[in-house]
Amino acid sequence: MNANSLKNKTVNFYGREFAVNPDVLIPRPETEMIIDAVLNLVGKPFLPGIKPNKAMLSLNLKIVDVGTGSGCIAVTLKKEIPEAEITATDISKTALNVAKENAKKFGTDINFVESDLLDKIDFAPDLVVANLPYVDKDWDWIDKEALAKEPSIALYAENRGLALIYKLIDQVAEQKISHLILEADPCQHEAIINYAMEKKYVLQETRGFILNFIC
Ligand SMILES: C[S@@+](CC[C@H](N)C(=O)[O-])C[C@H]1O[C@@H](n2cnc3c(N)ncnc32)[C@H](O)[C@@H]1O
Repeated sequence: MNANSLKNKTVNFYGREFAVNPDVLIPRPETEMIIDAVLNLVGKPFLPGIKPNKAMLSLNLKIVDVGTGSGCIAVTLKKEIPEAEITATDISKTALNVAKENAKKFGTDINFVESDLLDKIDFAPDLVVANLPYVDKDWDWIDKEALAKEPSIALYAENRGLALIYKLIDQVAEQKISHLILEADPCQHEAIINYAMEKKYVLQETRGFILNFIC
C-alpha cells in the first residue's frame, strides 16, 4: 500500500467507516477500548445491567480528545453519548481537516481546536481522552517500513515514547481534571501509572492498551 492508495480509503472503527488519508494514523482496533472505557464511566448501557450514571450525564459532560487524528474517538463518542460536549485537538492542521470531514460525514457537532496538547483549551473538561504518539524509535519489534506510511508526528515520541503522555498528565494535573483515559503500549503502563500517581492520579482499570485514571 503506498501513500496514494490511502486516498479515499475508509477504515472501520467501532462499527463506522472513517475516511483516512496519509495525514492521519489509521485507527487501530485496540483504540476502540477507549470508547468502552468512557461508556463504562458514564454508565451508558452498552452491556445489559449497567445503569446510566445520570449524575455524570446531566453535568453536560465535557470531553476533550487530545490528538484526534482522523477524529475516530471524538466522532464515536459524540455518536454514542450525544449529551456530551466533545472538543477535539490536534497539533496537525491537515489531520484536523480529516477529522472535520469525518465529523461532517457522521453529522456530529464537535469543536475542533488546533493545539499542542491542551494549550489552547480554555475551559476545564470533566474527562480527557488521548491516543497520543507513544512509539519509541528504538523498539526493535516495530515494523518501521509499515509505519512509514503513516505520519511520524502521529507515531513517535521522545523519552522512551512517553514524552507527550507525561506532558499531558502534567497539564491534566495542573488543571485538576478528574478523569483521564490514555492509550499506551502495555510495556509502558508501569512507568505511566507511577508518573500519574506522583500527580495524585489513581488507576481505575486497564483494558488492553488503555489506562483509566481518576483524581
Ligand atoms: C497516535 S495518533 C492518534 C489519532 C487518533 N486519535 C486515533 O486514535 O486513531 C496521535 C495524534 O496526535 C497528534 N499529535 C502529535 N503531537 C501532538 C501534540 N503535541 N498535541 C496535540 N496533538 C498531537 C498527531 O498529529 C496524531 O494525529
